Parts: sequence; structure tokens; C-alpha cells
Amino acid sequence: MENVTKVIAFCGKGGAGKTSLCALAIKYLTERKKRVLAIDADPAGGLSWALGITPARTLDDLRISLHNIINDKELRTGDELYELANYELLASLVEHTGFDFLAVGRPESEGCFCSINGFLRHCVGKLIEHYEYVCIDGEAGLEQVNRRVLETVTHLIIVSDTSRRSIDIAHNLLLLAQKRTQTMHCGIIINKLGDSNCETGQLPVLGMLPVSQTIALYDTRGKSLLQLSDSDEYYQKLKEVLIQFIQ
Ligand SMILES: Nc1ncnc2c1ncn2[C@@H]1O[C@H](COP(=O)(O)OP(=O)(O)OP(=O)(O)O)[C@@H](O)[C@H]1O
Ligand SMILES: [Mg+2]
Repeated sequence: MENVTKVIAFCGKGGAGKTSLCALAIKYLTERKKRVLAIDADPAGGLSWALGITPARTLDDLRISLHNIINDKELRTGDELYELANYELLASLVEHTGFDFLAVGRPESEGCFCSINGFLRHCVGKLIEHYEYVCIDGEAGLEQVNRRVLETVTHLIIVSDTSRRSIDIAHNLLLLAQKRTQTMHCGIIINKLGDSNCETGQLPVLGMLPVSQTIALYDTRGKSLLQLSDSDEYYQKLKEVLIQFIQ
């Protein structure tokens, strides 16, 4: 049977917990021996930090270096350029135990880069097919749902904290995602739940995860979330949500 890649993206209000949840989803999938590609699509680059990875060349660096090569050298044919872009893309992957990692850097710009963007998009599309799961850590805000980086997403996890504003943003993201595609699975995770209840109305809530001093401490200490104990209560709860949503 043909392998169909599940592409899981995390979006939601700034600080809601996208990067932490994405890092833990990568931990979960690699522990289950899945072939995983982690993509840091936030220009601020938090995922490498949460995973304890030193990022190599970003997709944006690659775009600029291809642009320079084309300008400096003799004009290349489409085939040559495609081969070069593919080679350089593979060279930009960080191979970690159990998964590969790619940082996007600045989002794709049009103008003089548009032909290179086209090649790279095609190469990334092909690269994704080699994995069972792709986990994308998105930036805050609504922009990326409109951008092509989310076009291949099969599972969108919208992360919200318990604030009214965050839940409103989650609702808007959901509507936007549903307007773009009927086939994408979308759900909301409420993160950092305290003692009081959180009103979510009719929203498709996948689960509510508590405030975790351990998660906050890992961030404070700059420790990789991959090292989180298997028996950690927060991680256990997240796994239950993931099992339901992405299996
Ligand atoms: N359940 C939790 N309990 C306590 N702290 C948490 C929890 N989840 C995340 N945090 C902390 O909240 C902060 C923001 O988390 P994170 O970086 O994952 O959010 P984000 O949505 O990716 O933020 P940004 O929009 O800035 O990229 C971090 O310090 C993180 O350790
Ligand atoms: Mg983040």
C-alpha cells in the first residue's frame, strides 16, 4: 500500500505552547519508531531549542545560496537547478537520533526568488513523502494558515491557553483552516489549564492539558524536552490526545 505521510502542524496564539507540544509530539513519534521530519517554521526558531538541536542552514539560507550560485555561475538548466536544490536541501537536514530536522528561517519571499521558491517547494514536497510523520512548529498568528507551508498539512493542532483572547484566536484559526480545506483534520488543545474551568462552547477540543512546572522548568534550564520522563503526567496526558487524533 502507498505510504501516506501525516503532516501535523501546530499553530495558535503566541506563548500558548505550540513549540513545547510539537517537541513532545516528536518525542512520542520517535519513541514509537516512526520516520519523522521535524520542521521549525517559526522564524524565531524555538523548536531547535526545545529539542536540544543546533540548527544548521535554514531553508532561507539555502534560497539565498542557490540565488547566488545561479547569479555567479553560467546559467543552469532546469534539471541542473532541480538536482542542485535537492542536493543542498538534503545537506541542510540535521539528522538527530530518530528524526530529521529542518528549519525554515524567514518565510519565502516572492520577487527575484520566485523561481527558486518554486523549486524548493517542489523539493520539500518530495522530501516529505519519505517520512511517515512531519511535525511543523508554526509561528503565532493567522498568517501561516494562509501560506503555502500549510498546504500539505493533514492534521492541524491549534493550541490555546485558557484566556478568552487565545480561545477567540483559536476559533478564528479553525474557521480559516476549514475555509481553506475540507479534508484537513483540525482540533484544539487547551494548554496550561489551572484550577478553574475553561469555557470552549462548541469548539472541537481534543484535550485539556494542565499547567506543568516540569515543562516550564525545562524551558528555564534550556533542557531538551526529549529528555522528559516517560512517566511524566503531562506527557502521559498529551500522548492520550495524540493517540486519538493522529493514529
Ligand atoms: N503546560 C504548561 N505549563 C507550564 N508552562 C508551559 C506549559 N506549556 C508551555 N509552557 C511554557 O510556556 C512558554 C511558552 O511555551 P512555548 O514556547 O511552547 O509556546 P509557543 O506557543 O511556541 O510560543 P511562541 O508563540 O513564542 O512560539 C514556555 O516557557 C514553556 O515552557
Ligand atoms: Mg514557539
